[in-house]
Amino acid sequence: MTSSSSLILGIESSCDDTSAAVLRGGLLCSNVIASQEVHSKYGGVVPELASRAHLQNIVPVVQQAVARAGVTLADLDAIAYTRGPGLLGSLIVGTNFAKGLSLALQIPLVEVNHLQAHVLAHFIAKPEEPHTPPPFPYLCLLVSGGNSQIVQVNAPDDMRILGQTIDDAAGEAFDKCAKVMGLGYPGGPIVNKLANEGDAERFHFSKPQVPGLDYSFSGLKTSFLYTLRDELAKDPDFVAKNKADLCASLQKTVIDILMSKLLRASKETGIKHIAVAGGVSANTGLRDAYHAYADRYGWQVYIPPFAFTTDNAAMVAMAGSFAYERGAYGSIDAVPFAKTTI
Ligand code: KG4
Repeated sequence: MTSSSSLILGIESSCDDTSAAVLRGGLLCSNVIASQEVHSKYGGVVPELASRAHLQNIVPVVQQAVARAGVTLADLDAIAYTRGPGLLGSLIVGTNFAKGLSLALQIPLVEVNHLQAHVLAHFIAKPEEPHTPPPFPYLCLLVSGGNSQIVQVNAPDDMRILGQTIDDAAGEAFDKCAKVMGLGYPGGPIVNKLANEGDAERFHFSKPQVPGLDYSFSGLKTSFLYTLRDELAKDPDFVAKNKADLCASLQKTVIDILMSKLLRASKETGIKHIAVAGGVSANTGLRDAYHAYADRYGWQVYIPPFAFTTDNAAMVAMAGSFAYERGAYGSIDAVPFAKTTI
């Protein structure tokens, strides 16, 4: 939690969720998310459709966030918005809305890096709920549809990437493997659900040999694809008959890959406060692995509530609160950026 009681409006529009949240001194007052169903029939996010949906959603979402917080626009101290990384067309909607509102209200703008916001989601406190944020420094495994990174967090404005994927992200591996099984989009939650009923030792897929703390998931994807191709040649109903075991084995492989590098990062840095963030942190197998490693290696683990794992404006308001407190205001001339690391 930040020390002051500043009232910050957060705006998130980096991909396919339009979200607005109000935070007072790190305490969540409201968090409204409008998800976009339009993409599911295309098997992935269609950028042009995403920006159009943001345009339709942004005004009602901000209005609801402010109303649910029991405040008015005039009460706000600053507006924090996601400047990037993300889809440019989507980011432009949130950026321009935030700029317009800050000009109209004559209050500061605060730029937020979407990845840093995920990592700082652990500091969001809910009224009347016990909350223990990680102490600095901590390690955060940031796993989403576009990123897989191990980040050393020394302070809200001092983060170092210790390792990251050299190709696909962990969420992408779930989504692409789910797609070849014909399971729908996004694949991660579907694989997770089926994995709960399957045998994780039934199939073995290749694990990458990448030096240092970096990740790779493209080899796993290929190995999965080849297994399906070979087995389908023998039995056209192979996927239908073995869905649960395929999902369980895939999920176990992804988790093994993620956890082995994280353990190495903990040993190399001596840091045992270990957090997880991003959409894939909703995975129940990964959450179980965190608890198992905590018992085995004496880690203190920090797992966000489900609502703060996927894209949301509460984490943007949180990262914005830290920046606002240290006077790191944004510029009205800032333009969104599509790619960056922390
Ligand atoms: O952080 P996020 O909401 O969005 C971006 O990447 O922008 O992450 C989305 C990713 C998708 O790949 C989705 O399949 C994955 O998170 N995901 C999961 C689960 N829930 C969401 N992956 C595995 N298990 C889950 N339960």
